[in-house]
Amino acid sequence: MYESKVRVSIFGLGYVGLATAVCLASRGFPVIGVDIDLKKVSAINNGECYIYEPGIEELIKEVREKGLLKATSNPTESILNTDFTFITVSTPTNPNGSVDLTAVEYATKSIATSLKGKKGYHLVVVKSTVPPGTTEGLVKKILEEFSEKRVGIDLGLCANPEFLREGRAIEDTFKPDRIVIGECDKRAGDVLERFYKEFYGDDMPPLLRTNAVNAELIKYVNNAFLAMKVSFINMVADLCQKIDGADVDIVAKGIGLDKRIGSLFLKAGAGWGGSCLPKDLEALKNLYSKYGERAPLIDATIEVNDHRPNKLIELAERITGGLNKKRVAILGLSFKPDTDDMRNAVSIKIINTLINKGAIVTVFDPKAMDNARRIFGERVNYSKDVIDCIKGAECAILVTEWSEFAKLKPEDFIKYMKDPCIVDGRRVFDPKEFLKKTKFATIGLKIDGL
Ligand code: UGA
Repeated sequence: MYESKVRVSIFGLGYVGLATAVCLASRGFPVIGVDIDLKKVSAINNGECYIYEPGIEELIKEVREKGLLKATSNPTESILNTDFTFITVSTPTNPNGSVDLTAVEYATKSIATSLKGKKGYHLVVVKSTVPPGTTEGLVKKILEEFSEKRVGIDLGLCANPEFLREGRAIEDTFKPDRIVIGECDKRAGDVLERFYKEFYGDDMPPLLRTNAVNAELIKYVNNAFLAMKVSFINMVADLCQKIDGADVDIVAKGIGLDKRIGSLFLKAGAGWGGSCLPKDLEALKNLYSKYGERAPLIDATIEVNDHRPNKLIELAERITGGLNKKRVAILGLSFKPDTDDMRNAVSIKIINTLINKGAIVTVFDPKAMDNARRIFGERVNYSKDVIDCIKGAECAILVTEWSEFAKLKPEDFIKYMKDPCIVDGRRVFDPKEFLKKTKFATIGLKIDGL
């Protein structure tokens, strides 16, 4: 651990902002987090965490105790007391598919206004996912206009996309695959590179320095490619489902061993969700149409994913002989394990469809129950644990692959369910073992009689 001279302010304390703040502070960089949400500000100042993310709560406590992290809703205080500012506010999708940059504009304006009275060089880094041209266009324009300073002279400006995953935010921040710096001027790129070298020391990841537009594009294209990989293997799963002896998990393993393909993001299942992939694909699609170009692979990636919930429902219908008035247990609600985030979670579509079909739905998730209550209210039953959830059920659908579900044996379902019909939406259970003892269906595997 060393004392760093670089002091950092971070505007926007969502997943990316909070994880970045906590990780920087834990390596000795004094950080001031800024957010308009006073609940977030006071939570941080009390050493509390408002998201579920493995390891983050402990780190917040640690850096608070060392006095390296504080939060405020006062932008000027944070700008005057720091050397760098990261913009990490959210960039949601507008109803027409374009990106809503209101929060970026608002944050930039308050940063710029606060910079007006500040002496010395200040670096502004756009970490939010923004369409190509935003940093060099909108952000630069607002910064210069309201600070009355010039980018490249008194101000540095970079686009520096973030690639961390929810549920792995800390790990990904400490060990990213690469860092992409999209610099508006060379000095800004040099300053940011030096900062990362100080932060990572001997573990400096590969670094790509480019212009801001390329950096912004890299983020969207990266997420689109990941989603395309998952949709591709899900499309393969549908074929495997029809062919005797075919198994998508084995096919994925076989192609994943080809280094040109790689084994990650080839897990077939209920489909991709979350706050990033769906939003970024929509934004990229919108960008293609803005430039009058076709994007058939993006359209197909979304189309395949849109059908995933129905694939699970179809399996559940076939295995139970109909879902009307059936008691259905849903195992897993978050969009993926190790997070409580339910934004664009596949579970939402599945549960809504089940309710429409007249099923009586009981749900359980290790972390997302509070979020589920906000989404479903009285429309579903909530369980205290997984056994409570499957008790008396006539069908159990595994939607999110939390590790605790993998421990369940066929005997557990037989013992507690009224009728042990199990649909494994994430290929967690061993089909051979389950087929011997229960009525079982899963993705990407043909099962006799289904
Ligand atoms: C994604 C990217 O992976 C991050 O690199 C990026 O920084 C982040 O978006 C962002 O833009 O902020 P995240 O949304 O946390 O991260 O989730 P992923 O781990 O990418 O998973 C996305 C979805 O794909 C999940 O629903 C997951 O269940 C699904 N998935 C993933 C599969 O169905 N199969 C796979 O093989 C992998």
